[in-house]
Formats: sequence, structure tokens, C-alpha cells
Amino acid sequence: MRIAIIGTGNVGNTLAVALAKAGHDVNLGSRDPHDAGDGPPVVDVATAVADSDVALLAVPPEAVDNLLTTHAGLFADTLIIDATNRFDGPVANASAAVAAAVPTARYARAFNTLGWENFAEPTIDGEQADLVFSCPLGDRAVLEELITAVGLRPAYVGENMQSVVDGALMLWFALVQANGGNRRLAFRILGV
Ligand SMILES: NC(=O)c1ccc[n+]([C@@H]2O[C@H](COP(=O)([O-])OP(=O)(O)OC[C@H]3O[C@@H](n4cnc5c(N)ncnc54)[C@H](OP(=O)(O)O)[C@@H]3O)[C@@H](O)[C@H]2O)c1
Repeated sequence: MRIAIIGTGNVGNTLAVALAKAGHDVNLGSRDPHDAGDGPPVVDVATAVADSDVALLAVPPEAVDNLLTTHAGLFADTLIIDATNRFDGPVANASAAVAAAVPTARYARAFNTLGWENFAEPTIDGEQADLVFSCPLGDRAVLEELITAVGLRPAYVGENMQSVVDGALMLWFALVQANGGNRRLAFRILGV
């Protein structure tokens, strides 16, 4: 799959390395394109999105609106995976911003309910962590492929269920806080 990951921070870089290692064609979209050595190429955002089937947003929430409106034409008809988390407003996800800026995009909510450390090392005590996600039914297999490629176990909660996914985000944060700030914890759903 040709994947653009926008944002070269903890989440973006960790997922890019994992997905490239699994054999996907990954470009990181950055405000600062540079030679990435042996890592996935770091190109400008427009180049990354133009060449992709899937675009994953891994930027700060306050950067999302500008990112989407600046590159709306390139994002058209793309599957957009939203990993951004906004904690200073009533809604953590960017689904409304995506719908407003890129009405033809398909929206998926994933890679936002666990700390990035668990994307780098998806196994805890010998068990694969689950990643809860939502997307159109037609894109479920794509998300399952990408989540599996990172080493996590996909847990689909249905179409347009970003608020449910964000509930899992809040649960994860509460568990971290209640366990002395331990970010190396994750969910395991039985029966899935
Ligand atoms: N940290 C976590 O464990 C975690 C887990 C799940 C989801 N999330 C969410 O995922 C997103 C990324 O988190 P992160 O921890 O990877 O953040 P981060 O380390 O701060 O990286 C964010 C990246 O976004 C890019 N960017 C684009 N516009 C920006 C702007 N205006 N200001 C700053 N950076 C900008 C930067 O890459 P360039 O300089 O290359 O453009 C930067 O490296 C956030 O929305 C966060 O809430 C975080």
C-alpha cells in the first residue's frame, strides 16, 4: 500500500518505520523534508499525499485544519486515518474537520487510543495489544492490514464510531494515570 504519514514526531515516525518494515510503501510528509538515511523518505506534505492511497494524520490537533485546507485537492477521495487527539475541546477527533475540508475523503479513526510506545513495541507480557478502530466497512480490511502490520490486534467497532474509539482513548488515559503514569499498558478484548 502507498501510505503517506503526515507528521514526523513520535507517532508518525514510529508508525512509518513499522509499516515500511512490513513492506508498505511509506512516505513521511513533513514541513522539513530531509534525507532520512535508511528510514522511510521524509518529503514535503504535498508529495507524500499526492502519491498515496492512504494518508495518516499524526500532527498536533491545532495543525489539522490548515493541513487539510491547504492540501484539500490532494486529499480528495483518499482514505484518511485520523490519529490526532484534541484534549482541549468537546471532541477529540478531527472527523468534522475532514468532512468540511475534504468531503470526498473516507474517514477512519485509528492509532489514537494507545501511547506511541505501544506502536513501537506492540507486545506486553507476551500478549499482542488490541487497537480499537472505526472506518467505513469497505475500508475495514485495509485498516486491519495496517494495524496487523504494526504488530497490534485490530478491534473494529463499526462505521462512523469515532466517539466510541475516543471513549477507549479516555479509558487508556485514565488507566495510565491510575497506574503511576505507566504508558506501557494496553487493552486485550476477549472473544475478538
Ligand atoms: N504521543 C502519543 O503517544 C500519541 C498517541 C496517539 C495519538 N497521538 C496524537 O497524534 C498526534 C501526533 O502526536 P506525536 O506525539 O507524534 O506529536 P509530536 O511528537 O509533537 O509530532 C508531531 C509532528 O507533527 C508535525 N507538525 C505539523 N504541523 C505542526 C505544527 N503546527 N506544530 C508542531 N508539529 C507539527 C511535526 O512534524 P514535521 O516537523 O516533520 O512537520 C511534528 O513532528 C497528536 O495529535 C497526538 O495527540 C499521540
